[in-house]
Amino acid sequence: MKTDHAPSSVRALTVHAPRAPLSGSVHVPGDKSISHRSLMFAALARGTTHITGLLEGEDVLRTADAMRALGADITREGAGQWRVQGCGLDGLREPADVLDMGNSGTAARLLSGILASHGFTSVMTGDASLRGRPMKRVTDPLAATGATFLSRHGGRLPLAIAGNANPPPLAYRLPVASAQVKSAVLLAGLNAVGETRVEEPVATRDHTENMLRHFGAQVQVEPMGAGGRVITLQGRPDLVARDIVVPGDPSSAAFVLVAALLVPGSSVRVQGVGLNPLRTGLFTSLREMGADLAISNERIEGGEPVGDLTATAGALHGVDVPAIRAPSMIDEYPVLAVAAAHAAGQSRFRGLEELRVKESDRLAATVALLEANGIKVDVVGDDMIVHGTGGAIPGGGLVETRMDHRLAMSAIVMGLAAQKPVSVDDTAFIDTSFPGFVGLMNSIGAGLAA
Ligand code: S3P
Repeated sequence: MKTDHAPSSVRALTVHAPRAPLSGSVHVPGDKSISHRSLMFAALARGTTHITGLLEGEDVLRTADAMRALGADITREGAGQWRVQGCGLDGLREPADVLDMGNSGTAARLLSGILASHGFTSVMTGDASLRGRPMKRVTDPLAATGATFLSRHGGRLPLAIAGNANPPPLAYRLPVASAQVKSAVLLAGLNAVGETRVEEPVATRDHTENMLRHFGAQVQVEPMGAGGRVITLQGRPDLVARDIVVPGDPSSAAFVLVAALLVPGSSVRVQGVGLNPLRTGLFTSLREMGADLAISNERIEGGEPVGDLTATAGALHGVDVPAIRAPSMIDEYPVLAVAAAHAAGQSRFRGLEELRVKESDRLAATVALLEANGIKVDVVGDDMIVHGTGGAIPGGGLVETRMDHRLAMSAIVMGLAAQKPVSVDDTAFIDTSFPGFVGLMNSIGAGLAA
């Protein structure tokens, strides 16, 4: 399946510290996790779902294309306004061609759960980054559905899936803290008769549970041990279309807010940011560093807590982030590392093993980002230790973004706060999660070259 929204041409950028503070009030694009799920679950529901605030980044557009190829009628009605005519739970049809999930691990992993429990054969691929990422973490538990998987060496994409329309319900304890794996198992359970059960030793983002309930499924969540959960789903629910409002993505707001904290004199407000407690570990950590980060106008929108966040620049100090917090800020470590480089004293981020299997090996890539710009970093086991500069990041480095949007945006934030310009080899992948990032940053005074 050929699509026209792969980041095509390389976009290098050199970032200088702005001459004046950053200021303004902005909205960031819709939450990526919720956007993928809204398209997938609406396609599985009976009736018409209207989605407001959908993230129109390349990752989510891949999900839209895949669900269309599987039979859903999906139309863009305006900016962020989408309409999905669902097929009903077992109404998907065999796709005529390979499903290309681009750069998106979430799309590939969640869709595997759906495809494993449908009685047809499909093939999934992705870009070079996604083709390098582990899929065994989903195909291992999903094999118990009776589906057959054929992948490249090490469980890598392309992946062929011969699904089973009558899967047994699964019971699975997550060996890694991953919302994607949890979601894949739960989604396979939609077509199973009986109760699917997932145990997660550490709670991960719960958008799948919340949204399946929103569409009418019976999902129960109970605490387990210290910070864990047991999730049970009753199979073959009657999923009925319900409208969805997607909040602003806290993982995207992170870059804007950290930039405002680091550029002297700045104050920036980001409106309508999702504040699901399983996503807000970065904000907790920044506050522990002494950041002036205020939340106002807290409300519930589309079933998720939402608020406006205002970041005001000021001195930061080092922080020790416990491993148990990692799932609630798993995508935010690169930009937190930039804040730690700016802070006074040492920061330690514990338990980062999952960072090695993101869009890039984000542990190695974040170390390289910092070291290229004169920051001392140590990796001890799965912990990262950043030696802060007390507001004096040297900069002057060239950052390789390795097909990783969050690396590119973190490098830009570093350039805004550094003494010498920071060069970024390619910013094109930012479009996967935050289309318009450079323009938005310029609207608050970043002065980035177009
Ligand atoms: C996501 C889960 C996380 C996160 C990713 C989005 C999701 O991945 O890194 O950006 O939407 O479920 P893991 O589940 O692999 O930790």
